Amino acid sequence: MSKDLKIAPSILASDFSKLGQEVRDVVDAGADWIHLDVMDGHFVPNITFGPDVIAKLRPHTDKVFDTHLMIAPCDPYLEAFAKAGSDIITVHAEAGPHLDRSLQAIRNLGKKAGVSLNPSTPESVLEYVLDRLDLILVMTVNPGFGGQKFIDAMVEKTRRIKQMIGDRPIDLEIDGGVTPETAPLVANAGANVLVAGSAVFKGGSVESYRGNIEAIRASVGSN
Ligand code: DX5
Ligand code: ZN
Repeated sequence: MSKDLKIAPSILASDFSKLGQEVRDVVDAGADWIHLDVMDGHFVPNITFGPDVIAKLRPHTDKVFDTHLMIAPCDPYLEAFAKAGSDIITVHAEAGPHLDRSLQAIRNLGKKAGVSLNPSTPESVLEYVLDRLDLILVMTVNPGFGGQKFIDAMVEKTRRIKQMIGDRPIDLEIDGGVTPETAPLVANAGANVLVAGSAVFKGGSVESYRGNIEAIRASVGSN
C-alpha cells in the first residue's frame, strides 16, 4: 500500500457523446491519470477510438494521458499516438513478434513505454525487456470490454511481477474489474496505478465520480 497510489479512470466507461466534459469532470473528481483504451476489432473484439479523438481531448487537461493500445499491428500507429499527446504508450506483448522493437520505438518518440499482458500470458515475457520499460500493465480481465469480473489469479501474478521489477523505476498498473473490493488485493501485491472504468463512471455526475474515486482510495488506505 502506498500514499502514492494513482487512479487512472478509463474513459471507456464514460459518455462518448461528451468526452471532453467527461475528462474534465473526472479530473475535477480527483483522477491522477486518464486511461485511454484503443481497440481495433481485430486484436480485441471491440472498436473504440483512435489518435484523432485523443488529440481532441488533449487540450482538456494536463493530466498524464495513459494510452493502452489493444491493436495489432501497433508499430505503424505509434507515431500517431505520440503526436496525439499520449504521455505513456502501452502495447500488448501478444500484439506482435517484435516487442523489443516496439518499446524502443516508443521511447525514441520521447514517450514512456509500457507493456500489457493478457491474463493468460506469463510474466516471463517481460524478462528481457525490463530495462526498456517505464510501465507494466497487468490485465485482470480479458481485454475488450469494461464491466467484467476481476480474475483472482492475477493477484499472485502481480506479486511476482513486483518482485521482477525490484528497484527499477517501473510503474505497475492494474486494469479490469478494479473496485473498492479488488483494489486492496492488487495494491497489497505491489500495484501503484489502478485503472477503473465502470467503478469510477457509475452515477454519471462529477459528484458521483468523486465519491467513487475516494471509495477506491479509501479501500487501499491511500487517502
Ligand atoms: C478493458 C480495458 C479497461 C476497461 C476497464 O479492455 O482495457 O481499461 O475500461 O473497465 P472496468 O474498470 O469496468 O473493468
Ligand atoms: Zn485499459
